[in-house]
Amino acid sequence: MRKNIVAGNWKMNTTLDEGVELANNVNTLLKGKKANCDVIVCVPFTHLTSVNAVLEPELVKMGAENCSEHAKGAYTGEVSASMVKSTGADYVILGHSERRQYFGENNEQLLEKTKQALANDLKPIFCVGEVLEERENGSYNDVVKSQVEALFSLTPEEFSKIVIAYEPVWAIGTGKTATAEQAQDMHAHIRKVIEDKYGKEVADNTSILYGGSCKPSNAKKLFAKPDVDGGLIGGAALKAEDFMGIIEAFG
Ligand code: 13P
Repeated sequence: MRKNIVAGNWKMNTTLDEGVELANNVNTLLKGKKANCDVIVCVPFTHLTSVNAVLEPELVKMGAENCSEHAKGAYTGEVSASMVKSTGADYVILGHSERRQYFGENNEQLLEKTKQALANDLKPIFCVGEVLEERENGSYNDVVKSQVEALFSLTPEEFSKIVIAYEPVWAIGTGKTATAEQAQDMHAHIRKVIEDKYGKEVADNTSILYGGSCKPSNAKKLFAKPDVDGGLIGGAALKAEDFMGIIEAFG
């Protein structure tokens, strides 16, 4: 059966020292209190090796926030999936709405990035989600369906390694969380889209995380929904105590 997961996405925050301290604090808090879910911190490329050195892998797994769609070569400034893997990372966030919006990442590119991640034994945390206009004009189910379908040339075996994160763009960093009912409806929709393509077993085994202004005060209600298998956490992942408060929602 699918795993419950709480994953932090630090985005472009923390210096190296601050990041190592944060990772250390998360690790220490988890040592004192065993989590009832998998815990992942996704950190800037520059921090991966140092953060990996302070995390105990049985307590906290590590991921990157992006990787290149190319394997290697003359792509100045890019970081490949094999480079990410070589730091000790197990996960990589792909298709975050900030990458789609500000860096123009599209479905074709995201499929190539996903293939690179899988070829290098990294589990993609693949983000989908509609913008406010799409929520308001009622097209959100179709929008998210087509984002998930971008991966449908993967084999069932490949797809079963994917974690989906539903992050409505209007809820990211705005303090405006989707209601637990809105999240549940979309997660059930996503699971059905996966089931129609890959069958019930793959769909039932896919972890679907919610992201967007998730905090200790609302996590429990969101995670109580049957198709919400945890969260992808931005702002609240930057304070170890808040992140721990969200992890403890799986009490
Ligand atoms: P916030 O939790 O800050 O809204 O960010 C969510 C997010 O984008 C995680 O990837």
